[in-house]
Amino acid sequence: MKKILITGADGFIGSHLCEVLHAKGYAIRALSFYNSFNFWGHLEHLECREDLEIVSGDLRDSFFCDSLVKGVDAVLHLGALIAIPYSYAAPQSYVDTNIQGTLNLLEAAKKHAIKRFIHTSTSEVYGSAIYTPIDEKHPLQPQSPYSASKIGADMLALSYFYSFNLPIIVARPFNAYGPRQSARAFIPAMMVQILSGARELKVGDLSTKRDLNFVRDTCEGFATLLTNGDFGEVYNIGSGVEYTMSEVLELICELSEVEVKIAQDKTRLRPKNSEVTRLLCDSSKLKSVSAWESKVSLKEGLEQTLAYVKANLNAYKTGIYNV
Ligand SMILES: NC(=O)c1ccc[n+]([C@@H]2O[C@H](COP(=O)([O-])OP(=O)(O)OC[C@H]3O[C@@H](n4cnc5c(N)ncnc54)[C@H](O)[C@@H]3O)[C@@H](O)[C@H]2O)c1
Repeated sequence: MKKILITGADGFIGSHLCEVLHAKGYAIRALSFYNSFNFWGHLEHLECREDLEIVSGDLRDSFFCDSLVKGVDAVLHLGALIAIPYSYAAPQSYVDTNIQGTLNLLEAAKKHAIKRFIHTSTSEVYGSAIYTPIDEKHPLQPQSPYSASKIGADMLALSYFYSFNLPIIVARPFNAYGPRQSARAFIPAMMVQILSGARELKVGDLSTKRDLNFVRDTCEGFATLLTNGDFGEVYNIGSGVEYTMSEVLELICELSEVEVKIAQDKTRLRPKNSEVTRLLCDSSKLKSVSAWESKVSLKEGLEQTLAYVKANLNAYKTGIYNV
């Protein structure tokens, strides 16, 4: 298992995954979403960039996916549209990218006899926890078009295991955070406001609870699944600890040494039945097949994230709600 294709390599988790797998000695073909600026997203600044085979293209194109997959041993499929609010406005593009895009890769993987295909799901497919911690048997509840598109993609991936014996594993990360995350996510959104001088922060719902896993821990979970786990199975990847967004914000303010006031911004609230109120991960299935565990504490992870946002503040758009 030497040559790995990583889709979504230009993004937040994918770029960290390139670094983690490069350090472990894998040869990597990294997909960057095609654009006419030849901009490679977060791949641009990676120290290992010269060692990566970077390919630009679009998951929605089946011809492109065929050539993308040819010649690799394994596929780690992370490329997707992931913002929940944007999925209310542009659901068609979520179906095209997350479902059709996944189907294109599965077909190519079948044709080229790929040895392992790790498909990336999300804890959002579970919806608001019916019980906690959430194991892989928890019902799936599509509370947003994004979640629905990921459920569709997960089921297609598993169908290729049942129908064609394709070596599929579904990795299901809970919320990841860390350096390079976009300002659509809560943690960088708060940090960007604080670092650009705001002392009255615009927030959405601070009562929601999330299982926050530092991005490097999430990536180690993916790396583990390259050599462990059974085909046709789903594996949760999360920290097993939950925080309200209010507690997270308190910790960010403490680390930033600021006191802030809170102003609820209605545009940041999700429709009532769409908001996922609670996610807490049970990773015992992954732990039963490997030595993986989540290692970085929230405080340590937030410190690293804050340092990154501070050093890259000009790369963020301040003063607007990023979706
Ligand atoms: N961030 C999280 O907390 C989290 C949690 C659970 C699951 N996930 C999943 O992890 C994966 C990566 O998420 P992320 O947070 O790094 O998001 P991201 O938006 O930073 O990365 C996704 C990448 O996919 C690429 N992409 C989108 N459409 C494409 C297309 N048509 N063709 C080629 N590339 C395309 C984008 O360029 C982007 O860089 C996604 O599948 C997401 O659903 C993320």
